[in-house]
Amino acid sequence: TKQKLWGGRFTGKTDPLMHAYNQSLRYDQRMWDADIRGSIAYAKALQKTGILTKDELEKMVKGLQAVGEEWKQGIFDVKEDDEDIHTANERRLSELIGPLGGKLHTGRSRNDQVATDMRLWLLDELKEVEKYLKGLIGVLVSRAENEKDVLMPGYTHLQRAQPIRWAHLLLSYAWSLNSDLQRLRELAPRVGVSPLGCGALAGNPFLVDRDFLAAELGFTSVAENSLWGVSDRDFIAEFMMWASLAMTHLSKMSEDLIVYSTAEFGFIRLSDAYSTGSSMMPQKKNPDSLELIRGKTGRIFGNMSGFMMSLKGLPSTYNKDLQEDKEPLFDTLDTVSASLRIAEGVISTLDVDADKMRAALTPDMLATDLADYLVRKGVPFRETHHISGRAVALAEAEKKPLSTLTLQQLQGLCPKFTADVKDVFDFEASIERRDAIGGPSRRMVDRQIAALRKALA
Ligand code: ARG
Repeated sequence: TKQKLWGGRFTGKTDPLMHAYNQSLRYDQRMWDADIRGSIAYAKALQKTGILTKDELEKMVKGLQAVGEEWKQGIFDVKEDDEDIHTANERRLSELIGPLGGKLHTGRSRNDQVATDMRLWLLDELKEVEKYLKGLIGVLVSRAENEKDVLMPGYTHLQRAQPIRWAHLLLSYAWSLNSDLQRLRELAPRVGVSPLGCGALAGNPFLVDRDFLAAELGFTSVAENSLWGVSDRDFIAEFMMWASLAMTHLSKMSEDLIVYSTAEFGFIRLSDAYSTGSSMMPQKKNPDSLELIRGKTGRIFGNMSGFMMSLKGLPSTYNKDLQEDKEPLFDTLDTVSASLRIAEGVISTLDVDADKMRAALTPDMLATDLADYLVRKGVPFRETHHISGRAVALAEAEKKPLSTLTLQQLQGLCPKFTADVKDVFDFEASIERRDAIGGPSRRMVDRQIAALRKALA
């Protein structure tokens, strides 16, 4: 039988179950491109040291490109003994260019190689995630712009609290996601550190030019300590933490929209494109898209905490436990990307029932404004809060809206009430009064839209 890449010192055969247990190719093959790019750069560095001649380098680069082409076309023939993407590519390279292929791994280890591949791969993917995130923020901002006139109840404790603009709520989601955007951008310099040339753990004896390698691959810096370089996976943990937080934001938005889409609220309707039906109840239209986002958030947390458990307790440098970084990272990347795109689709296609939202505004939601009315007449807020509270109780006892208490009734509670108190009961005016930075007034909504558009640019 064929020898394993590392088979020299072995006489016994690998247990078949162990062979399968150890094999990571079925998932790490998605880094084939990063692996080929890393190897091409490394071959160039080897040529600079004199290990490869110019001619050998040319053959090797052509061979590596041919291997990459096979992956690209989906015709790479995976062999039983291909343990991971690194061994598979090297095996194929040697098939194509002969013993010269055996020079590629000079001074390199799969330990610096895999760390390099993961970082290169993630750097590319971060750009994709950023694109999806910006897409979602973009539709939230556009909807806010188009639906500035829609008023709705704002809730605390899921109890009607004060009137707001629907746009203000949409923009609140956008602000959370904007923080995620900042955080995502801040990850890149820590992902973009080059471990190539760290060897197995103790560095490179052929003095490969590590600055050259980093520049060649688009890294922004070089790992300054080889022990750290081969073992650091903080960038993966950090991305999974990032994803956990971002998913929490999507989950909160989903939960709001699920509630608002119930018949009891009826504020929004999801488009058919993002809903599904029931196999039994013909009338059902369920917000599965949003429920899946909410549900998948749990899995993203699980990936993150599971990987932290794998890291915890590891000794220094490379240990095979680190191979367990891939499946949770890939799953997290796929899940967060899909969730951002689905959320963008849901937001851009849902229908808003502005009348239903408006109808849910009740005069008692202006009780704070009633108290504020007296504040403007010089009464301390602690007293006005109490007076307004008694007005609410009175209206409740008489089973009528707060706005229909007579002036006499109000004056019975506080003589400072005058006829202009009726102006308090105007939802739009209440919103417009909240015109300090951060408020739901039209001007402040416009300000937010401008600021978010700038952050997206
Ligand atoms: N497939 C391995 C991983 O993902 C590559 C590194 C293997 N290194 C080793 N010394 N066995 O971590």
